[in-house]
Amino acid sequence: MIKAFVFDAYGTLYDVQSVADVTERAFPGHGEIITQIWRMKQLEYSWLRSLMNDYRDFWTVTREALTYTLGVLGLTPTATLFDDMAEAYNRLTPYPDAVPALIGLSGARRAILSNGSPQMLDTLVGGSALRDLIESTISVDEKRVFKPDPRAYELVEERLGVKPHEVVFVSSNGFDIAGAKRFGFRVARIVRVPQGALTQEISEQRSNTAGALRPVTLYKALRTQEEALGYAPDFVVSSLADLSRLAVAT
Ligand code: LAC
Repeated sequence: MIKAFVFDAYGTLYDVQSVADVTERAFPGHGEIITQIWRMKQLEYSWLRSLMNDYRDFWTVTREALTYTLGVLGLTPTATLFDDMAEAYNRLTPYPDAVPALIGLSGARRAILSNGSPQMLDTLVGGSALRDLIESTISVDEKRVFKPDPRAYELVEERLGVKPHEVVFVSSNGFDIAGAKRFGFRVARIVRVPQGALTQEISEQRSNTAGALRPVTLYKALRTQEEALGYAPDFVVSSLADLSRLAVAT
């Protein structure tokens, strides 16, 4: 029986691309490429920090990834502009399906397990309409290691008192889906970048540029695929609204 739905935050409940307004205003013409490289590097740095056994919280990781990204693109921000872009991560927009889905799941426990630092998550969740719909916002910070390390996922049982098989863990992020499945949760993948939506963009570029894809398109395409690590999700949904059917059926 499912007792709890536990959600990843960034890219699952909250749209990480919603920082693009701020990055585009800071560096016109570069907004989207900044968000794409920044997100990939942010995740990579979280894994590197865990592997190097040199933990820094996700706020530091996020800022270091932004420094790297702007360096790659040859962009030099003022300190204020840099802070504005980093701060935008604390005001991400929830996906439109998040609030109705969480209301629809009110018969089960609803929590967040995120790599975000406690302060980032307090600001993000506390400042959004999800605030009263989430019972517990759990940060990996106290374990000083990031998902997909199993010690991060152990926090769910420690905080909520539910066994892994009683949990549906919901994420759009391939690494998190694989990690949560390996840990023992039931896992639902929410598809946030549908492959179909990119098909036309890819085929237009292929015919105009002799096969080459624009970097932004390539980065988006990377988010359409599940990881090939042998840990497929139990469920794949195209809207969080579909989770209420799992709550009844499983
Ligand atoms: C989260 C990011 C990494 O843990 O998606 O919320």
